[in-house]
Amino acid sequence: MKVVVFHGSPRIEGNTDILLHETLKAVGEPFVETQVFRLNLMNIKPCQDCGGCETTGVCIVSDDMNDIYHAIREADRIILASPIFFLGLSAQAKIMIDRCQAFWCEKYLLRKPIPAGPHGRKGLLLLVGGMKKEIGIQCAEATATAFFRSISVPEHRTLSFLGVDAKGAILGHPDALNGAFEAGKDLVKIG
Ligand SMILES: Cc1cc2nc3c(=O)[nH]c(=O)nc-3n(C[C@H](O)[C@H](O)[C@H](O)COP(=O)(O)O)c2cc1C
Repeated sequence: MKVVVFHGSPRIEGNTDILLHETLKAVGEPFVETQVFRLNLMNIKPCQDCGGCETTGVCIVSDDMNDIYHAIREADRIILASPIFFLGLSAQAKIMIDRCQAFWCEKYLLRKPIPAGPHGRKGLLLLVGGMKKEIGIQCAEATATAFFRSISVPEHRTLSFLGVDAKGAILGHPDALNGAFEAGKDLVKIG
């Protein structure tokens, strides 16, 4: 089973990082291959809305998205992890998602969704916000849902924590680490 992870936080050892680490502890069984994309360190140009993918489903921009396109096609499970920035996903996550317009075209214009492997395709959304405003989660959830469906992930679970702001503050949250671990276990469970 192949698990592909999109890490949308720029902060090393920050709250998203810590949550993701717990999730991946549970995912990391011998039969699971995990690939993590730390989006902040990647060279990904924002979507240019050039229409280049409309007739082919292939983006004409060549950059680090090439590896991501390939990984998304092969994935059985996809994790998207992001802090809430200005009531939505981080820019790092959003730039990658916008470039998945190529998959949207392939699925909805060319009628060629990405075929699922024997374990199906499932997603997990991990979110951390410093404020206690649900609207940030709702906006991020709406964007992430559009992302997952466009890349032919028909179902995903969301785990979100609000009021977690300072670097590492998630360690003091009563349920977060355990919740992230259990979500990881659940994600790779078969059947
Ligand atoms: C540019 C920026 C914008 C932010 N906007 C929000 C926001 O709209 N809502 C919120 O709940 N927290 C907001 N925060 C706080 C972060 O979500 C919070 O600090 C989170 O724990 C960061 O996660 P990280 O340690 O993984 O980077 C913002 C932080 C930054 C740097």
